[in-house]
Amino acid sequence: MPLSYKFSIALTAIIVFFSSYQYAAEQSTPAETLAVENTAPEEPKEPVEVKPEDKVEAGEAEHAFKQENPCAGQAEGDIMGPEVCADCHLDKIQTMQMSPHGVAADSRSPFGKDGCETCHGPGALHFETEGNCIISMTGRYGESVYSRNETCLGCHQSGDRMHWEASIHEAEGLACVSCHSIHTRNDVIHRTTQNEVCFKCHKDIRSETFRASSHPIRESKVVCSDCHNPHGSAGTTLLKQFTVNENCYSCHAEKRGPFLWEHQPASEDCTLCHRVHGSNHMALLNKPGPKLCQQCHIAQAGIRGGNHISNFLDYDSGSPGRNRFLVAQNCANCHSKVHGSNHPSGAALQR
Ligand code: HEC
Ligand code: HEC
Ligand code: HEC
Ligand code: HEC
Ligand code: HEC
Ligand code: HEC
Ligand code: HEC
Ligand code: HEC
Ligand code: HEC
Ligand code: HEC
Repeated sequence: MPLSYKFSIALTAIIVFFSSYQYAAEQSTPAETLAVENTAPEEPKEPVEVKPEDKVEAGEAEHAFKQENPCAGQAEGDIMGPEVCADCHLDKIQTMQMSPHGVAADSRSPFGKDGCETCHGPGALHFETEGNCIISMTGRYGESVYSRNETCLGCHQSGDRMHWEASIHEAEGLACVSCHSIHTRNDVIHRTTQNEVCFKCHKDIRSETFRASSHPIRESKVVCSDCHNPHGSAGTTLLKQFTVNENCYSCHAEKRGPFLWEHQPASEDCTLCHRVHGSNHMALLNKPGPKLCQQCHIAQAGIRGGNHISNFLDYDSGSPGRNRFLVAQNCANCHSKVHGSNHPSGAALQR
């Protein structure tokens, strides 16, 4: 983006300016320099902007200030091994043992490699400082979302994560831990608990599932990941299939046809008539009765000049709304094959 690009140029210029200023200052007062040499440069602490992705339990309330990580050389430190971590974090070892990440016999698993430190980085400095200098996977010490995700993607890039890069969730700055948790039950991969994880952020979708007609999402018979790949997809709207219709056909195969008499909107896009997450009209329709069809078939709207059978016998065709056949006006009462017909004389989608 050009704006942030310019911004970073400006920022670089400012940093270069101030560091040369500081350098000059250091040259003139060598004694002071010695005194502060081993500590991190002083920088004002700034309030953290708490993003949704940081609201995993671990990082939430206590840490109102981002802390500068004063742990130079942390990444090159020694690997201590999980036994050392267990001295102070026994609970974490226990949760690991219940997860595929804790299988030491599996060389693909973190415990088949450097144990806890496969994800949290070498622990030598952490051990020495008794609690500082470690990669917090919650971003507590200001680790970027990108670098934390890279840790996971190092083992999980392939398969379903093929389209993570440039997916909308990646672009919105979500971390893997926005949905997944490693040391507690991983709710998002279980069908009965997944929806709640998504609803944390997608409250509008949650409210749609409470409408009169809905896919059985609240009952967890159909879950978000039946239709969406939250890690990104090649199709639209994170759908697992390339198009909306391919998505619908994957469960409602009988709507695919081929039909002798197609109804164009049905073969084009089911959402021309249906709302997928929920609707207050029957059968997930986006409009009630005749209005649904009149969005496109205005000639059958029963207005002056309309010549369709459903208003043909109107005793006063000049007055809209006084149709004696009003009761039959719900177009689908006569045109019941709205998705297409295979009857030889089904051209008007009536049989
Ligand atoms: C001597 C005790 C001790 C040992 C051994 C120890 N830790 Fe810690 N660890 C702490 C303390 C104290 C904290 C800070 C707790 C806090 O402030 O919430 C901490 C915090 C952490 C955090 C939390 C960062 C966050 O997101 O809040 C991680 C991750 C961590 N340790 C990993 C490890 C790993 C991996 C090892 C093994 C290499 C290890 N620890 C060994 C004492 C220890
Ligand atoms: C060193 C490699 C490695 C790293 C790093 C790693 N994983 Fe895994 N992960 C595995 C392996 C191996 C499995 C088991 C896969 C299998 O059995 O097919 C697994 C399984 C999973 C599963 C599904 C199984 C379950 O019940 O939990 C999820 C979800 C997962 N990892 C998420 C993550 C996330 C999020 C991260 C980053 C915080 C991460 N992984 C880091 C290797 C790794
Ligand atoms: C928006 C929520 C969300 C985010 C963000 C997310 N995941 Fe997932 N993840 C899920 C859901 C839902 C499932 C279960 C999908 C299924 O069963 O098809 C899952 C399943 C998995 C699995 C196990 C199933 C498999 O495909 O092998 C792994 C591994 C995994 N995710 C890794 C990651 C990694 C790595 C990241 C970060 C780059 C990440 N996830 C980010 C929601 C998310
Ligand atoms: C697969 C990567 C992975 C491995 C392996 C791993 N962690 Fe974590 N750790 C995480 C993530 C991600 C978080 C963020 C919170 C969460 O997802 O549960 C975390 C959070 C933590 C925290 C701080 C959060 C809290 O609940 O206090 C501690 C402490 C910690 N880990 C210690 C350990 C120890 C000790 C081990 C080894 C027994 C270990 N971790 C192994 C990924 C990992
Ligand atoms: C039966 C399949 C299906 C299920 C289940 C499903 N979705 Fe969707 N979702 C779709 C389709 C299809 C679209 C595209 C709709 C459109 O283009 O009008 C969509 C669009 C979306 C959108 C973007 C557009 C909007 O309406 O705001 C979000 C966000 C979304 N879904 C979230 C979710 C969440 C969260 C869940 C689980 C609670 C879920 N979906 C369950 C099929 C599904
Ligand atoms: C931490 C917050 C968060 C969580 C948790 C989350 N999402 Fe999202 N999601 C977003 C944001 C932000 C967007 C982009 C803005 C929007 O469309 O609402 C988005 C967009 C989407 C879209 C629309 C894509 C598009 O192209 O319009 C779908 C579909 C979606 N999410 C599905 C899911 C599913 C399924 C889950 C649970 C597995 C989930 N999300 C969990 C934050 C989240
Ligand atoms: C993962 C499978 C799945 C996918 C994909 C799916 N559906 Fe469904 N659909 C269902 C289930 C299950 C029901 C409930 C059937 C029942 O209650 O007997 C249902 C019911 C319906 C109903 C009837 C609702 C009612 O109240 O009578 C409509 C309409 C519908 N789906 C439209 C769609 C559309 C449009 C799409 C594509 C955007 C779609 N479905 C994708 C599984 C799916
Ligand atoms: C022109 C509008 C329209 C389009 C486009 C449309 N539908 Fe429908 N659909 C309806 C109407 C009207 C009903 C209610 C039928 C009735 O009265 O029984 C319905 C009912 C349904 C039902 C529940 C009853 C049944 O027949 O099983 C499903 C499932 C369904 N549609 C799926 C789809 C799918 C999948 C698509 C895309 C291929 C689609 N619809 C496209 C109008 C439409
Ligand atoms: C999104 C627009 C759209 C909607 C909504 C729609 N239709 Fe259609 N319909 C079409 C198009 C386009 C054709 C093809 C017109 C043509 O061939 O001249 C068509 C054709 C038809 C035909 C066959 C016409 C013929 O000339 O034989 C009937 C009957 C029909 N629609 C009934 C309905 C009914 C009933 C509904 C409501 C359930 C409905 N339509 C909703 C766009 C729509
Ligand atoms: C009382 C039954 C009935 C109702 C209600 C009804 N139709 Fe028809 N429709 C017919 C008949 C009969 C035909 C002529 C079929 C033929 O030519 O084979 C027809 C034909 C059509 C055609 C083909 C072009 C034309 O005008 O002849 C369209 C489009 C159509 N109807 C749309 C609608 C719409 C939209 C509604 C709701 C506003 C509706 N119909 C309500 C019985 C009905």
